[in-house]
Amino acid sequence: MSPFALTRTLPADATAAALRADVATGLTRTPKELPPKWFYDARGSELFDEITRLPEYYPTRAEREIIIARADEIATATGARTLVELGSGSSDKTRHLLRALTARNALRHYVPVDVSESALTGAAEGLLADHPGLTVHALVADFQYGLHLPPAPAPRLLAFLGGTIGNLRPKERSAFFAAVRAELAPGDALLLGTDLVKDERTLVRAYDDAAGVTAAFNKNVLTVINRELEADFDPDAFDHVALWDAREEWIEMRLRARGALVAKIPALDLAVHFAAGEELRTEISAKFREPGVRAELAAAGLETTHWWTDEEGRFALSLSVPVPVPARAG
Ligand code: SAH
Ligand code: TRP
Repeated sequence: MSPFALTRTLPADATAAALRADVATGLTRTPKELPPKWFYDARGSELFDEITRLPEYYPTRAEREIIIARADEIATATGARTLVELGSGSSDKTRHLLRALTARNALRHYVPVDVSESALTGAAEGLLADHPGLTVHALVADFQYGLHLPPAPAPRLLAFLGGTIGNLRPKERSAFFAAVRAELAPGDALLLGTDLVKDERTLVRAYDDAAGVTAAFNKNVLTVINRELEADFDPDAFDHVALWDAREEWIEMRLRARGALVAKIPALDLAVHFAAGEELRTEISAKFREPGVRAELAAAGLETTHWWTDEEGRFALSLSVPVPVPARAG
């Protein structure tokens, strides 16, 4: 078998239809809002990689520190033969995990799942070069709508890194964890990366860097809409906004219209009006505390067996296993 396969669980036109639907609903409601997955075209994936190298963006370095320190422990605890990774992006931190899993467990199967096809093919190239004998089966899929994972040897370790879980709203998170739980068989495990609540200044700077990379990333969603739906958004007519919502404990990203403007979206036969200062909500990034993460996982039937943080306690990696569902009488 060839060591690389790529499956699109969504046909290309389903993606286009989903974008049209999301834009049509999100830009006609108050407040205006768009789901974050549309950031990640090829350019968006590149910009995100740049974000991970910014001095202000600590989550990637903190999570990498934990993965490097704990990779052997994770390999031993799980015995995983297959690694599935949701929202894998560049798979950069995953290399350390794969090294431990291939050495200790003779793992040979890696299944990265992402909406960004360019990120998947780019990541696979490097991994296949580093790990002869590894089979990579990439899935272009939306991890919020059915996972459709290919059959692969058990036990499987499902990884969801980068704090991406925080980009889902609480209700979406519980649906997501329930779907993950349903996917896991006895012996499988979930490895989850969660960014932790900390001082506001550190959090806001991570989402509003001095070089303006995060601003460019946020505005990239307008470029995607321009290209895919022939719209005429001027990204320079918007300011990037990142604010900390202390009650919800999440960072909220917005694009604020500098002045009153109208954007035309011919593909939807739509003209979108913005008042001066009106904001388009593009992303939340929730920050967590240990009891909250454990409770959300427990509610989905997942028991947290390990909780690790970096030295500075900025980010957490946790390992959970499915709780057996008691047989029901009658
Ligand atoms: N795991 C990497 C990348 C995190 S960025 C890291 O830790 O650095 C989030 C990734 O999730 C991006 O690669 C993006 O393309 C992907 N993504 C976002 N929403 C998604 C969705 N609904 N379904 C599948 N992938 C998604
Ligand atoms: N999962 C990343 C996070 O929440 C995604 C991200 C980082 C992001 N910076 C961003 C999303 C800026 C939108 C805008 O940290």
